[in-house]
Amino acid sequence: MMDESNPYLPYTAKILETWYETPGERSIKTFKAAFEDEKVWDTWEHKPGQCAMVGRLGVGESMFCISSSPTEEGYLRFSIMKMGKVTSALHELESGDTITVRGPLGNSFPLKEWEGKNIVTIGGGIGQAPLRPVINYIRANRASYGELTVIYGSRTSSDLCFKDELDCFMSEEETCCHLSVDIEEEGWPHYVGFVPSLLVEVSPSPENAIAVTCGPPVMIKFVIQNLEKLGFAPEQIYTTLENRMKCGIGKCGRCNVGHLYVCKDGPVFSYATLKDIPEAFA
Ligand SMILES: Cc1cc2nc3c(=O)[nH]c(=O)nc-3n(C[C@H](O)[C@H](O)[C@H](O)COP(=O)(O)OP(=O)(O)OC[C@H]3O[C@@H](n4cnc5c(N)ncnc54)[C@H](O)[C@@H]3O)c2cc1C
Ligand code: FES
Repeated sequence: MMDESNPYLPYTAKILETWYETPGERSIKTFKAAFEDEKVWDTWEHKPGQCAMVGRLGVGESMFCISSSPTEEGYLRFSIMKMGKVTSALHELESGDTITVRGPLGNSFPLKEWEGKNIVTIGGGIGQAPLRPVINYIRANRASYGELTVIYGSRTSSDLCFKDELDCFMSEEETCCHLSVDIEEEGWPHYVGFVPSLLVEVSPSPENAIAVTCGPPVMIKFVIQNLEKLGFAPEQIYTTLENRMKCGIGKCGRCNVGHLYVCKDGPVFSYATLKDIPEAFA
């Protein structure tokens, strides 16, 4: 748990392993890291959907979702897209190097409340990072949930994150996985088209169901429209907001959406909370 006497104080963590999820100028690299001080694990407790400020000493820190489920013990995972100063400096790091971790920050997906329900996750690109801990938490507590449907797409097949796990979901009887790419490509055996269209193709039932969607804002907008057409009520739809952040703890006012601080009141919100706040999807 974060040091309450100084919430700006980060822990240091050693990188255990890194690998690229996707190639290119805006590549996504996953970091698996463990706290250098073993005692941190005694009080550290994160839930799916929570984030942390991850930094490189001498450069700075940025907000990332914790992409490992709490059911994966002994390490944290972050999947980071190369965007600018901090993310580029983080991408230079390899196994054995040190990062800083300040957190866990923000709220989480109410997975306890969702027990007994069918869960549909709808992700696009790096948006699968906050959904990964939800999916793996449910897979680790399978008897507590109904059907698990994973809908995930990206521009091309090489832009899909967590490919090994997607293969695993495909072969699992208890998980229903549907993949898409935006553009037709040779050898692609799954859906071709945008994620909101794939959602309509799959048409999950809203009965006793929760839909969670994360990805680019434009995708989220159309996914929510289609979920409503399928009969999902705003209270059954959850998403995350990723407004730019500085302090991450509700002090600086950088991340406001209406009366909400995304860092403290979010990043997880139900659509029922966001639907009357125009800036939320601006
Ligand atoms: C709650 C939350 C969770 C996040 N989770 C992840 C994650 O799991 N993986 C991941 O790769 N990224 C995630 N991000 C985005 C990540 O924080 C930014 O990409 C990062 O701060 C960029 O830092 P930088 O110094 O490299 O870029 P900068 O040099 O600050 O900016 C470079 C470019 O990135 C754009 N940018 C910076 N921050 C954001 C943002 N929040 N949204 C959209 N564009 C931005 C800038 O406009 C600029 O064009 C998350 C953000 C939030 C708020
Ligand atoms: S980032 Fe400072 S108030 Fe949210």
